[in-house]
Amino acid sequence: MRKAGNMDKFFITTGRKIDEKSYKKAQQLAEKCQMPFVERDGKSLEQLKIEQQLDKILLVKKTKIVIVTAVGELFFHPNMAQLRIKKLLKKEPDNMIEAMGLKAGMTVLDCTLGFAADALVSSFISKIQVVGLETDELLSLVISDGLKNYNSGITAMDEAMRNIKVININYKDYLRQLPDDSFDIVYFDPMFRHPLQDSIHLQPLRQLADISAVDAESIVQARRVARKKVVFKENSKSREFSRLGFTKIAGGRYSNVHYGVMNI
Ligand SMILES: C[S@@+](CC[C@H](N)C(=O)[O-])C[C@H]1O[C@@H](n2cnc3c(N)ncnc32)[C@H](O)[C@@H]1O
Repeated sequence: MRKAGNMDKFFITTGRKIDEKSYKKAQQLAEKCQMPFVERDGKSLEQLKIEQQLDKILLVKKTKIVIVTAVGELFFHPNMAQLRIKKLLKKEPDNMIEAMGLKAGMTVLDCTLGFAADALVSSFISKIQVVGLETDELLSLVISDGLKNYNSGITAMDEAMRNIKVININYKDYLRQLPDDSFDIVYFDPMFRHPLQDSIHLQPLRQLADISAVDAESIVQARRVARKKVVFKENSKSREFSRLGFTKIAGGRYSNVHYGVMNI
């Protein structure tokens, strides 16, 4: 659920260097999201914020869309996934992939897309479409735009990005409408109940993300929808695993992140 009034505080503008394509894109987005479009006119973002008396910006640049918040910028970048994919290419294990038991040809429903790092790693291994759900409208817009347009220069990475289908929906609503056994793996990575101290780069995400805990009914639905496993990521010390009924835990003894696994 979007925090009340969040969207109202946004306006949309372009980067300082405008081309026709990004200018049109910004105008179309303003219409779609019903946000005020403000001409950049060479002004600084700070100046525009004061003039508009609004504190959040959707900034359409030539190569990406950026969400500018008071605590930092948020945009799609495959850097975290890229590191993990490089390790996988060297045949080093990835804790999430091990927990999922993911192999090529298996289908994944990622219920909590966020920056799409986990979805990208899943898509790289599965080699087929991964469906990613994100309840925040702006976040799903920025991330799906990045997944469509980012050019990493590595064919396999670019294919993995294009193979992620982003749906702007709450997983509670989506899971309920799916038939039984729709995906091999159903995956949750909610905002941690107790955030890790070193995750400062997630601060802009906290401005937008749905921070609610996963409810027991969603796990019941996920078990119905999954053919093989439901996987749930949390702080390794979290009580969420036992609250939601995850008894099998994966992720390395010394890791501060663990994966609860339910085999179906
Ligand atoms: C910790 S982030 C996920 C990070 C992601 N796994 C990655 O690798 O980038 C959690 C995301 O799930 C989204 N979310 C939380 N509850 C949701 C719900 N009920 N339905 C859909 N998305 C949800 C939040 O808005 C947030 O963007």
